[in-house]
Amino acid sequence: MDMAVEKASAPTSVRLTPLMLNHAAWVTHDVEATADFYMNIMGMELASTVIGDSVPSTGDAFPYFHIFFRMQDGSTIAFFEAPGLPERPEPSHPAYLIFDHVALQAGSPEEVDRWHEWLTNNGVEVVGPTDHDGLIYSIYFKDPNGLRLEITYPTDPEWNRHTDRARDDLLFWKEGKQKAQQSGREMSEAMVDLIASRGRASPAA
Ligand SMILES: [Fe+2]
Repeated sequence: MDMAVEKASAPTSVRLTPLMLNHAAWVTHDVEATADFYMNIMGMELASTVIGDSVPSTGDAFPYFHIFFRMQDGSTIAFFEAPGLPERPEPSHPAYLIFDHVALQAGSPEEVDRWHEWLTNNGVEVVGPTDHDGLIYSIYFKDPNGLRLEITYPTDPEWNRHTDRARDDLLFWKEGKQKAQQSGREMSEAMVDLIASRGRASPAA
């Protein structure tokens, strides 16, 4: 974490920062259902596919079908289907199923509400809308793979430029964990008290 803070404060002239999201990829066990969902429910274009008998980057002999779905800005969501791959193990805690997610941006809060209606009408179970402290307005649901998706609109136009506050939060969290550990209390209980004493929670999921 110290490293993250140091990197964040390095001069921009020496810092290399990625340009944009190219793709984020997950494993699917049903590429047909996945393609139906992303093309017909999520309205994305079928962007590209790759078929291989081994993984180019590692040489692993996993035959696979790789598929990309394109959003309006050119960024993509991608999947791999590898025949014969065993089911993914159940996570050790339900928090993994909530916190691991990908958020897709809508054009307005009204559009988030339209997504809610569209998804519900298509039999997709939707959680929300949730207003995260006036920062973002979001709904949550799952794709056919169980991947948690969020459709969001940033009601605070500066939502991703709160750098100073974020640095403070990072330090508060690091020091809080240290204090909690030193107190010898159960970690999550100690952190709940610490957050309450601070009086401001940050939106997370
Ligand atoms: Fe999120």
